[in-house]
Amino acid sequence: MTAVLKNDLLLRALLREPTPRRPIWLMRQAGRYLPEYRATRARAGNFMAMCMSPQFACEVTLQPIDRYPLDAAILFSDILTIPHAMDVGLEFEAGEGPKIERPIRSAADVDKLKIPDPAHELRYVVDAVALIRRELNGRVPLIGFAGSPWTVGTYMVEGGGSKTFGRIKRMMYESPRVLHRLLDVLARSTILYLNAQIAAGAQAVMVFDTWGGVLTPAQYEEFSLHYMAQIVDALTREADGRRVPSIVFTKGGGAWLAKIAAIGCDAVGVDWTTDLATARAAVGGRVALQGNLDPSALFAPAATLHAETLRVLDSFGAGPGHVFNLGHGITPDVDPERVAVLVDTVRNYTPR
Ligand code: CP3
Repeated sequence: MTAVLKNDLLLRALLREPTPRRPIWLMRQAGRYLPEYRATRARAGNFMAMCMSPQFACEVTLQPIDRYPLDAAILFSDILTIPHAMDVGLEFEAGEGPKIERPIRSAADVDKLKIPDPAHELRYVVDAVALIRRELNGRVPLIGFAGSPWTVGTYMVEGGGSKTFGRIKRMMYESPRVLHRLLDVLARSTILYLNAQIAAGAQAVMVFDTWGGVLTPAQYEEFSLHYMAQIVDALTREADGRRVPSIVFTKGGGAWLAKIAAIGCDAVGVDWTTDLATARAAVGGRVALQGNLDPSALFAPAATLHAETLRVLDSFGAGPGHVFNLGHGITPDVDPERVAVLVDTVRNYTPR
């Protein structure tokens, strides 16, 4: 028996249904800016151990929900669980970000990759989703997520984070078919993974395309959007008698919002470099919008933060279909008190 959902504002706003107020959640809402998160991570030992324990993942997912009146929980995990399950030797070194021991550089490397079975190698994620749903007990919906094939692919080819994406771009120009095969394996893995999250209780899903914005418009369509479209197309549409909305977010994708909206997702994430009024005109009412306060606004004095938050709320304008969020994740150096100011401002907003 699953509990009745007491707050379904997020699900309704994602489907552009009217809501009494704008829902809010924050990318990376469970993270290092919270002292309780740092305490749990210390107990778990390291980041991957925290992800791989359903109990720790559940505990950390609920921390921001217990602290702030947010309208959604997001599964605590990472976009690199799929490469981890593909056995590329993923490690998170403290303060250094992800490192991949066996990066994908050739056709032979791609050939060796196996599509992870969500019931086996990624079982810990599925179990975390089920546990979180039970512990949430219908307070707010739970969002599941995955990285886009392009974004996950950048880590697999570069061997970690990158500033220039030189290796994957070289592969894109020198051997595009090899890259396409990698992206295809990732897309098929992601479909199984997200549908397993939905089957376990995820009530909405989001695809994070953090690095789509480093591509040319034509490359974006060919190497990133195409694979996200395949994923969106194959997602389970309904669970427990309710539509499971999908959100697609390309950081730096402001010029391509109409193209993203056309792949059949329910909502499009917008970063802080595009005004929501412009974004809304671009997507023409086909999808809901999620965003887009500059994460650095959380460093501003409370009065400035309040004003910047109102500016984002006003910029969307009247009518349904806005989920308030940041334009990208919260950074570790944010004061948790500022987040309280932000959430409070959004909850008390009435359109002017
Ligand atoms: O939003 C949430 O609260 C859910 C949790 C979540 C994490 N990662 C936890 C995490 C989500 C949705 C992600 C997605 C993710 N992971 C993305 C896409 C979104 C984005 O932020 O652009 C990317 C690119 C990654 C890959 C990744 N994971 C990097 C580059 C790093 C290291 C950089 C950093 O911030 O430390 C991680 C680690 C990571 N994932 C942390 C968290 C809370 C920090 C790990 C720690 O505790 O030290």
